[in-house]
Amino acid sequence: MKYFIVTYGCQMNVHESEKIAGILENMGYTLAEKREEADIIFFNTCAIREGAEDRVFGNVGNLKKLKKKNKNLIIAVCGCMTQKSQTAQKLLNTFPFVDIVIGTFNLSRFSYYIEAVKKGRQMEIFDEGDIDETLPYKRTSGDNAWVNIMQGCNNFCTYCIVPYVRGREKSRKHENILKEVEDIVREGKYKKITLLGQNVNSYGKDNENEISFSQLLREICKIEGDFKVSFMTSHPKDLTDDVIDAIAEEDKIEKYIHLPAQSGNNRILKLMNRSYTREKYLDIIKKIREKIPSCRITSDFIVGFPTETEEEFNDTVSLVKEVRYDSIFAFMYSPREGTVASKMEGQIDEDTKRLRVNKLLKVEKGIQKEDKNDN
Ligand code: 5AD
Ligand code: SF4
Repeated sequence: MKYFIVTYGCQMNVHESEKIAGILENMGYTLAEKREEADIIFFNTCAIREGAEDRVFGNVGNLKKLKKKNKNLIIAVCGCMTQKSQTAQKLLNTFPFVDIVIGTFNLSRFSYYIEAVKKGRQMEIFDEGDIDETLPYKRTSGDNAWVNIMQGCNNFCTYCIVPYVRGREKSRKHENILKEVEDIVREGKYKKITLLGQNVNSYGKDNENEISFSQLLREICKIEGDFKVSFMTSHPKDLTDDVIDAIAEEDKIEKYIHLPAQSGNNRILKLMNRSYTREKYLDIIKKIREKIPSCRITSDFIVGFPTETEEEFNDTVSLVKEVRYDSIFAFMYSPREGTVASKMEGQIDEDTKRLRVNKLLKVEKGIQKEDKNDN
């Protein structure tokens, strides 16, 4: 019996697919080289922008042919899209040949669901719950091992669907994280360990007995072995001095911070509910550069947020010029149903968003070229 997994979206999803692979291999499945050879196909989906959802609908639709050829093929869809009940329902209605639509948390009972599906039931499983510490991973990212330290997000940035589909912040116990890292280091195959969370800097805050993120980093660095540790993603409002100090002082921590600014304009930042100003963001950047001169810094930006004027967009351009990032991701704002921003008046047309994203990326390219020539 063979499996094939198609993964969309962020590193969290890549890592979750490693968990799905682990579960399937435990059940006796082996990896298929292509989807045509698989007995079970998993789509691990992303809901962050409309484009990501459209791709899933297109690609799941294409499986109809395969299902016709192989009646026993099991098609499962999981991940962020399936956490939205309307989308999950739409998936099942549009594609009656999809067997399982399963939420993010309840993978531990997956073998039970497969048995039910084999008996001819179409299933939709919604779940809330804790991270299951007992599930095995099949690590697939070369010499990098992902380690999830928390799930969910409490920030409710007004454009973002994540808090709705991933729930509230929940940190794993540091003992479990340290044990996982120790096991990874002992295996000897991994040179890099990347800690994952939507907002790693608020690690531990959901439990008063838990240690802080900087303490967690320091504890990980005490583990003996030849490895580097990095983390993502940091929210500027929570990146505290003790974390910057830990990065500066600990040899094992990679000198790298992904610090999404999203916009360089204070009115837009406020509308986004980001809880910092351009000035405060620049202060953090200054602090990082002072304490860790070699630190690489990257960022995410959203252009064309509702009501964003050309002038306000130019504040984002000037921020990018001022910080001189090592690289950036720039996204056209995509309205997500259920979020505050999707209901705002003054939505920006797609052509304007496209012009802005292209301009921002061009500016960034120019900076990278100049920095390359300097080195
Ligand atoms: N539209 C466009 N980009 C978005 N992001 C999050 N939500 C949206 C949205 N609705 C971007 C942010 C975030 C990154 C992971 O995706 O920049 O940092
Ligand atoms: Fe979304 Fe904001 Fe949470 Fe990041 S911090 S996941 S952008 S709500």
